[in-house]
Amino acid sequence: MSEDVFTPPIGEWYHPTEDVIEQAHIPDYEEVYREAVADPISFWAKRADTLEWHKLWDKVLDDSNPPFYKWFVGAQTNIVHNALDRHIKTWRKNKLALIWEGENGDKVTMSYWRLWQEVNKFANILRSMGVKKGDRVTIYMGRIPEIVVAMLACAKLGAPHNVVYGGFSEQALADRIEDAKSRVLVTCDGAWLRGKIVPLKDVVDEAVRRSPVVEHIIVVKRTGQPVNMEEGRDYWYHELAALPIAAPRCETEVVDAEHPLFLLYTSGSTGKPKGILHTHGGYQVYVSTTLEWAFDLKDDDRYWCAADPGWITGHSYIVYGPLILGATSILYEGAPNYPYPDRWWRIVENYGVTILYTAPTAIRGLMRFGEAWPQRHDLSSLRLLGSVGEPINPEAWRWFYNNIGSEQCPIIDTWWQTETGGFMICPLPSVSLKPGSATRPFPGIVADVVREDGTSCEPGEDGLLVIKTPWPSMLRTIWGDDKRYVEQYWSKFKEQGWYLTGDTARKDEDGYFWIIGRNDDVIKVSGYRLGTAEVESGLVSHKAVAEAAVIGVPDEVKGSVIYAYCILRNGYSGSAELMQELKNHVRHEVGAIAVPEKIEFVATLPKTRSGKIMRRVLRAQALGQPLGDLSTLEE
Ligand code: WTA
Repeated sequence: MSEDVFTPPIGEWYHPTEDVIEQAHIPDYEEVYREAVADPISFWAKRADTLEWHKLWDKVLDDSNPPFYKWFVGAQTNIVHNALDRHIKTWRKNKLALIWEGENGDKVTMSYWRLWQEVNKFANILRSMGVKKGDRVTIYMGRIPEIVVAMLACAKLGAPHNVVYGGFSEQALADRIEDAKSRVLVTCDGAWLRGKIVPLKDVVDEAVRRSPVVEHIIVVKRTGQPVNMEEGRDYWYHELAALPIAAPRCETEVVDAEHPLFLLYTSGSTGKPKGILHTHGGYQVYVSTTLEWAFDLKDDDRYWCAADPGWITGHSYIVYGPLILGATSILYEGAPNYPYPDRWWRIVENYGVTILYTAPTAIRGLMRFGEAWPQRHDLSSLRLLGSVGEPINPEAWRWFYNNIGSEQCPIIDTWWQTETGGFMICPLPSVSLKPGSATRPFPGIVADVVREDGTSCEPGEDGLLVIKTPWPSMLRTIWGDDKRYVEQYWSKFKEQGWYLTGDTARKDEDGYFWIIGRNDDVIKVSGYRLGTAEVESGLVSHKAVAEAAVIGVPDEVKGSVIYAYCILRNGYSGSAELMQELKNHVRHEVGAIAVPEKIEFVATLPKTRSGKIMRRVLRAQALGQPLGDLSTLEE
């Protein structure tokens, strides 16, 4: 059963205007799709040719050992060469790479030249701390320019970064440091959010106490409140940057196309988060192609992806994609409605944003405040809008389309995952839209909706979303766990060699895909991906809780919220205080996004005879729906 109860509406068409089609990079989707699927090898080789390589590949795709696919085998490259080094030799040297606005009104702009220099300095500092090719560096920061600089600096040295979203707590951070075994960590003193300081360095101190593999911590000063600095371990970035070691020149390490670029931990169906591994070569080809074609990125655009750099959306479409294309990006630190609900619209107006890429939960959140807020601002610079993270309900789609895009801007609804690295199902601007559908697969991607036995579903029939052929930015493995990689994604349709996405979807008569939601134990809360098991282990780590089960329940703004059911240990009884204490506990163990909306104390949990919790029974109960087949229920 799917996590979200989302019923797609029947087709309602939005056709792009002549104008949009005329200026699009790809005016005819059908033709390019056919070409790509007929000969994926030459298609991807041609795309790779748009980038610079230190040595060209011997082979585009090595599929001799599935599912361990390799792309651009034998090629030598570094994604930072394509994202920065090559631009500073052209007119783009003077172009703005980054426009940053702090929540408190601070502003920073960086040309490609300046960003390149900052990255070089940072890389030299990392190198002076012993970071070399292959070493993992953990990054735990707010949305400030230095997070982009730090990521690129790692990549430049061939040191895979491990960015942990700044909303995660001590334990979540500690687990990710431990799994990645990173000796060096980059953080900042704090970040501004809703007018308050999020004390990131305090969280780091506690995480490092729990995971003592970290030897050096670089601290960027953002908020300026006093923080604990441990002699010999912690260093202020601005002090290091003033030393001769921080020279503004640093050679970019040339690496193999298959060299690890980053690990990014994400939730799966067991408690342990998975370190998804991406590599330099295939990833750079895929993220730049998808961004250029789907968002039709041009040199005069001001592009704003409002996600956090700490998630895959930020990695692919704030950092690497836009920089490879030489684009100008906006980065904003804080909350969308601070100090007033028009903060985002003010940013669009002030900077003349042309492309805005965000998430349904943010749209629904801002929709609540009414049309008057966007109407106060001139949003006419916008030409394209985008959505990601969960299905966009048609009501939010139309609000976004009418009130933000003035009925002129196509909405590019992009379906993809941390694992896929880039957009998999999404329209190009020239494609006709249906609100709520991510439309059709990107050129080169073969997607289908199938039954348990692998046969294709009929139009309108729900099934499992699979990807049938490899693509350049696919995950290469789960860090340190090849076995889990094979099991999780490739064992269900082993014979066929298909990638299992974990989503339920349906196709309509026009071949349009409608994503229904997850069919595993993953919940999307405000677009953030969480495993039920992670939240449950957070709850049972409290002394009062013997057993816990959590489910996702539909919510108008957040998409889903978490309900938790707890069995208490002997000697404890359920109270409002305990409920609050458990919420605080989860906030510390996992993070604010994992805090249950509701906690219920129960005497038993519905389980199968083999002891597996039947979450669908809990969900049906919570929603007041029929309980369904209970024959496997233990009692
Ligand atoms: C969901 C985020 C519907 C889906 C890039 C997927 C979506 C999971 C969409 C991956 C969309 C993402 N429409 N559902 N446009 N985009 N999803 O790894 O369930 O954080 O499997 O990557 O988000 O979440 P992740």
